[in-house]
Amino acid sequence: KTIFVLNGPNLNLLGTREPEVYGRETLADIMARLSAAAAERGFAVDARQSNHEGELVDWLHAAQAAGAHCVLLNAGAYTHTSVALHDAIRSIKVPVIEVHLSNPHLREEFRHKSFVGMAARGTVCGFGADSYLVALDAATRL
Ligand code: DQA
Repeated sequence: KTIFVLNGPNLNLLGTREPEVYGRETLADIMARLSAAAAERGFAVDARQSNHEGELVDWLHAAQAAGAHCVLLNAGAYTHTSVALHDAIRSIKVPVIEVHLSNPHLREEFRHKSFVGMAARGTVCGFGADSYLVALDAATRL
């Protein structure tokens, strides 16, 4: 049982990127913590990061082809722009959970619309790196 964890643009810079918004943990730290928590529940994690919209689309298709249990998707800024990601989520049967470290609803107006959230099974946001762990919990209950 594998959970895909797909991270979008600029999340490779976690740790140094606007730490007052996103915290000081690196993406590798967060993914290591998530993998350990998943392993305790009998799930493997396949964690990936890309700055390219089409690669994220390809990986959503790959999750389906791999028979993934679920996808956790933090699409970064593509969340607010990408009809292609919206369509990709709707094109696969694997449930997708939208994840954000910050709470976009408390931020700039341009972050209030989520093309990902309009197609996802559910959303976890606002808990910093722990958003991924809360989403993992939801994923294991699906
Ligand atoms: C983010 C929120 C997005 O609005 C932003 O563009 C990001 C990170 C988050 O995890 O809080 O890159 O997805």
